[in-house]
Amino acid sequence: MYFMVRPSKTFLFNYLEKKLKRVNAAIGLDAASANFKNRAMFKTQKYYGLDINLEHLKNGLQKYNDQNTFGILADLAKLEQLPQNSVDLIVSTNTLYALPPDKRLAAIDNLCRLAAPQAQFLCDLPLDKEFERIKKMLHTNFKQVKIIYYKNIFSQIYEKIFERNGFLGSHPVAGTRPFRFLAWLISLTEYLTCKLSFLNKHVLFVAKTKKDHPDKNQFNLSNIRKINPKIFDLT
Ligand SMILES: C[S@@+](CC[C@H](N)C(=O)[O-])C[C@H]1O[C@@H](n2cnc3c(N)ncnc32)[C@H](O)[C@@H]1O
Repeated sequence: MYFMVRPSKTFLFNYLEKKLKRVNAAIGLDAASANFKNRAMFKTQKYYGLDINLEHLKNGLQKYNDQNTFGILADLAKLEQLPQNSVDLIVSTNTLYALPPDKRLAAIDNLCRLAAPQAQFLCDLPLDKEFERIKKMLHTNFKQVKIIYYKNIFSQIYEKIFERNGFLGSHPVAGTRPFRFLAWLISLTEYLTCKLSFLNKHVLFVAKTKKDHPDKNQFNLSNIRKINPKIFDLT
């Protein structure tokens, strides 16, 4: 269970944790993994954390030094070397929104290409002017696309009270246990409003099952250069 500083993120991560508990397929890709913050949510047989920052990957591998956890040093917009139709679970959190529109679309296009026939692809995005294009892209690639709207008006008001220049991470009050509990309580209201686009600022896309019935490929990285035994290098 997550008790985060922001109610909206508390909702997002508790929702993902519940959802990913049931996905125990072979290959999981955490796209823009930082130091493998989402590692514990993945129940796939293998976890690949992909990030553009080598130090983040090294830190992640220090935390999770097991035989099923790997790093991939890569830019999300340049994943051509990874095999298409090969990844069973793709998750990207708190990152795509920060990429410029062309890079964001290239990243999503890449992740769609990597997804295996029965894959699930989950990513969070702001409800901004790129939303319709991304929705169309996901509908083009996947049979089922579920949209969960979140960051509702209650979360927005709560977060505005504490934000400083848009940041809330290290707020001395919001970061305390009672306020994290309050944020968790507010996050429960997200379940009531998650179908109402007009009340919310963000979306979580949950896309499932490729449309074009491709054959599944092995997630074979044997041709890719390694920085060390656990980190592949696409740069
Ligand atoms: C805010 S962190 C998100 C980490 C984690 N997914 C989470 O939800 O907390 C953003 C991460 O994206 C990585 N990143 C930014 N641009 C990227 C790109 N174009 N390709 C791959 N990783 C990128 C950064 O290095 C950083 O680790």
